[in-house]
Amino acid sequence: MNKLIAPSVLAADFGNLQRDVEMVNNSDADWFHIDIMDGVFVPNISFGMPVLKAISSHAKKTIDVHLMIVDPDRYIKTFADLGADILTVHYEACTHLHRTVQAIKAVGMKAGVALNPHTPISVLEDIISDLDLVCIMSVNPGFGGQSFIENTYKKVTQLKHLINDTNSKTLIEIDGGVTSKNAKQLTEAGADVLVAGSFVFKSENPTKTIADLKSLCN
Ligand code: DX5
Ligand code: ZN
Repeated sequence: MNKLIAPSVLAADFGNLQRDVEMVNNSDADWFHIDIMDGVFVPNISFGMPVLKAISSHAKKTIDVHLMIVDPDRYIKTFADLGADILTVHYEACTHLHRTVQAIKAVGMKAGVALNPHTPISVLEDIISDLDLVCIMSVNPGFGGQSFIENTYKKVTQLKHLINDTNSKTLIEIDGGVTSKNAKQLTEAGADVLVAGSFVFKSENPTKTIADLKSLCN
């Protein structure tokens, strides 16, 4: 499968949000990655529904929403209504993960589960075939611009084996500290989707950075 690039809007210039959304629309990027943080599950608050609504009204590509919030079940329908195509919840934030995943699918979105750096792949053994996407956090969630955690490569390989062994169709997404230095090794290990925030938006030419990342891993 073609490897996908998902720029993280968290690193965009919020004073020029429409400009940055159009830049992604007109680039080689595949998805918009949208980070929602509640200041409880993670020690930071990003942005919420009105901002996502504004992004959705201009975005012409798949909207991949990453919820870093406690009790995400409260907002599943809201995110579907706001235009999310994929809704990813954290394993660590869901007591009844199977129920949450079914609820996401019931309102027409694809369902993803994110794992913190300390959470082993093995916790997904009994749910992997229900998941459209697993997001392996390669930094501790909460902030953009952090350094990539090297243990991620091992987790990608383990997850790829689990997906193959169970004949699942699950995509592997990597989120945090992705750059041109680790992109190729990640996709070679089995990653399908690379999220990149700072590396894209803080670069001199984000459109070219996206194109370079995309050609690096395809
Ligand atoms: C971190 C977020 C990431 C973040 C990635 O909690 O989930 O999506 O925006 O940003 P970079 O690429 O700067 O690490
Ligand atoms: Zn994210």
